[in-house]
Amino acid sequence: MSSGNRTLSRRRFLRTSAAIAAGSGLPAWFVEVSRGYAATTKPASPNDKPSIALIGCGGQGRYDATLAAKFANIVAVCDVDAKRAEAASKQFNGAKVYNDFRKLLERADLHAVINGTPDHWHTFINIAAMKAGKDVYSEKPLTLTIDEGKRLIAVMRETKRVLQTGSQQRSDARFRLACELVRNHRMGKLKHVTTLLPAGPRKGPFNPAPVPPELDWDFWQGQTPFVPYVRERCHGSFRYWWEYSGGTMTDWGAHHNDIALWGLGLERSGPVTIEGKPLVEMIPGGFTASAEYRVEYTYANGVTHTCRSTTADNPGGGAIGQGEHHGVKFEGIDGWIFVTRGKIETSNPELLTEPLSAGAIRFYVSDDHMGNFFDCIRSRKQPVCDVEIGHRSVSVCHLGVISIRIGRKLHWDPDGEQFVGDAEANKWLARPQRKPWTYDLA
Ligand SMILES: NC(=O)c1ccc[n+]([C@@H]2O[C@H](COP(=O)([O-])OP(=O)(O)OC[C@H]3O[C@@H](n4cnc5c(N)ncnc54)[C@H](O)[C@@H]3O)[C@@H](O)[C@H]2O)c1
Repeated sequence: MSSGNRTLSRRRFLRTSAAIAAGSGLPAWFVEVSRGYAATTKPASPNDKPSIALIGCGGQGRYDATLAAKFANIVAVCDVDAKRAEAASKQFNGAKVYNDFRKLLERADLHAVINGTPDHWHTFINIAAMKAGKDVYSEKPLTLTIDEGKRLIAVMRETKRVLQTGSQQRSDARFRLACELVRNHRMGKLKHVTTLLPAGPRKGPFNPAPVPPELDWDFWQGQTPFVPYVRERCHGSFRYWWEYSGGTMTDWGAHHNDIALWGLGLERSGPVTIEGKPLVEMIPGGFTASAEYRVEYTYANGVTHTCRSTTADNPGGGAIGQGEHHGVKFEGIDGWIFVTRGKIETSNPELLTEPLSAGAIRFYVSDDHMGNFFDCIRSRKQPVCDVEIGHRSVSVCHLGVISIRIGRKLHWDPDGEQFVGDAEANKWLARPQRKPWTYDLA
């Protein structure tokens, strides 16, 4: 090749690699290369649609079931709030209504369930479903405690069921691109990761109210301590109470800390130190989960990680996300990559436009999180956000919550999944369960 030709082909190469694939906002080279790795997601033919059920008919459960309806028939819906179950039944062509998931799980014709219940119910229902022979699409955050995740993994292995965690950023090409670049040292050795999460509400006090006639409040509370009904503890805002969730630390952390571990290459491991603190005092009688917080992590490979919320003073979150209120920033010695929903930015445009080499580390490709679940139901392969990944991602969040609540630095053994020589902290790995909702009955 003459030097002129070489210049030409180098120019053509740069033009191609710098091109953006139509409609995706992603570099063309990445879309092209990923195609070779992607599994095909097949919408099922009408005769080939498995029968599935939705448990937990709130906004997210119904959204998930709408996505699943491309691949499956929704034949049953279940909620402890009768109005919500009825509304879901209407939405899904008269699917049979249940108020007790245990009855629903007795049905032999059901292949899988979608679990859209609040966080304190995920594990019990997921275990019961897998033991009943069903595959599970479970909403994130996968668990309420680290102990729950370990139990879930054991049951998945024993029953050989497919469990997809609903952290759908795993099936978003932008996040995959960012993490592949990080793993291939595109910005040099990785030094620091920042996950910025939206602040939670700091509200209250709230008053008890009569239980709405359509709601079984005792059932809704499940394993958690019984308290009189308070509207703000229930639908939607349950996530702002330690009793049922972990605030935005687990709600958004299950998404962005999942991405942090993916980029770090530690998705089946975790940090070695954790130091969290609340940045505001919560209002007595109001939401209990820290609304604003900051947690510093270190990993065995020397990378540091800050997970922090935006604050009332700085709702845009400051320098991390160029004005974003949530996202993940990876900083290496030669530059940075910031990724959030719908946007990827870099310190230098070439970090994105230069293709990865043929021998680069490539990830599992899924461009449709729900479709990937149904592919795996057929192939019996592990989904893109399998139970262990779901458990480890939320473990990072739980560890942050424990440090915030205990109020000191903690040392963690990610292999043994125990705090090192710290009996007080180890007590936080599980929670007391209110009968009859103990795991031996799941
Ligand atoms: N993947 C995402 O981006 C995403 C987005 C929003 C919510 N979520 C997750 O989805 C879950 C649900 O969130 P939501 O906003 O829809 O909450 P929600 O409170 O509106 O809905 C939960 C529903 O579950 C029902 N429920 C409670 N206990 C039950 C039980 N034992 N059996 C049957 N039904 C029961 C409730 O009555 C309620 O209707 C949460 O874990 C949340 O973190 C995920």
